[in-house]
Amino acid sequence: CVDIAALPKESGCFTFDPGFGATASTKSAITYIDGDAGVLLYRGYPIEQLAEKSSFLEVAYLLLNGELPSKEEFAGFEHAVSHHTMMHESLKHFFRGFHHDAHPMAMLAASVASLSAFYHDNLDVDDPADRKMAAIRLIAKMPTIAAACYRYSIGWPFSYPRNNLEYVERFLHMMFEVPSEPLQLNPVAAKALDLLFILHADHEQNASTSTVRLVGSTGANPYASVAAGITALWGPAHGGANEAVLKMLEEIGSPDNVESAVRRAKDKNDNFRLMGFGHRVYKNFDPRAKIIREMCHKVLAELGVNDPLLEVAMKLEEAALKDEYFVERKLYPNVDFYSGIIYKALRIPTEMFTVMFAIARTAGWIAHWIEQHETPGARIGRPRQLYTGSGVRDYVPVDKR
Ligand code: ACO
Repeated sequence: CVDIAALPKESGCFTFDPGFGATASTKSAITYIDGDAGVLLYRGYPIEQLAEKSSFLEVAYLLLNGELPSKEEFAGFEHAVSHHTMMHESLKHFFRGFHHDAHPMAMLAASVASLSAFYHDNLDVDDPADRKMAAIRLIAKMPTIAAACYRYSIGWPFSYPRNNLEYVERFLHMMFEVPSEPLQLNPVAAKALDLLFILHADHEQNASTSTVRLVGSTGANPYASVAAGITALWGPAHGGANEAVLKMLEEIGSPDNVESAVRRAKDKNDNFRLMGFGHRVYKNFDPRAKIIREMCHKVLAELGVNDPLLEVAMKLEEAALKDEYFVERKLYPNVDFYSGIIYKALRIPTEMFTVMFAIARTAGWIAHWIEQHETPGARIGRPRQLYTGSGVRDYVPVDKR
């Protein structure tokens, strides 16, 4: 491991690393991954333990502050978050400007970017108190905005956050409440969603977090930085994979079609990939996928949902794990492979899957943004390139071209 930044400038050292497969862009003390061993730690705590014993809001506190909170610290954090859940009334005008079938990720990215226009009072990125306020606002408002994206897309009136509910329950309430009937929240659904949020909360320098840091490195405000992270997350090679997995499973349709899907995924003349398989860092089972697979069976059983897509997914996993192509390339199911089946069982529509991911990842994005601003001597992110274009040449007037 060579620290290029520590080399004298005269060394002229210049690296070419497309896709940043071997380049650390920063030091970070937040999340650790051992991709060969399938290990994931948040601030040193194994993901398996946090999934079993913690809650999303506690994990958010941990990511932001580096330590698990005491009872009093957690109560203070929860209180602060639940008092910033409201969406500014004027933000509703933004929604009304969107076409009714706009993708919720488009509405989410635009709405979060617009928060910098509403909260410019506390936007000194060099002030620790302002940074903390932005973190709380983002974590608090994300579910409210996400639920508004959904409700707008189906023509329902926006709903207000009920601050006497816990984080995930409050979100589910905003998603599904209708004026005429009191909403009966299923505790199994809330627990499952909380677990998915824990598992998605951070994942070191993935594409969206690196985007947040790159934008943040320019001194841009936290809402603009996180909005950029949302747009990076949207792509099907990243967070958009959860939506793509469900669409793929629906297209495969039956366990009988699994073999041909695997054949297509291996064919280099076909762009089809097994969505939810493979990872840049994990060359072993994604530890989050193991937890989600187990949870998927449990949630479906407890909610009494019989989803034939689960059978298709299991057959696909079994077929891929036996196939030489996938074995050689160490392509295992990732976090997105089974999460969509759980979201579907919770009645969350497919277009909202990546929004779910964004709600959870906001905790990680803002923790990284804060860490970046707390690091002395941080520089603007400015990758270099290998130029492959023309050499110098003279301008040719249009009548001579
Ligand atoms: N299906 C079929 N083949 C695959 C798949 C897949 N899902 N993933 C990788 N491969 C193959 C590639 O074609 C390549 O084969 P080759 O060596 O013969 O050329 C080899 O495996 C290595 O793949 P790369 O694309 O170089 O791996 P990279 O690390 O750049 O990409 C990625 C990782 C984007 C996750 C990729 O595996 C992929 O596209 N997976 C499907 C999308 C997905 O599930 N994304 C979610 C990732 S997790 C997350 O962001 C939350």
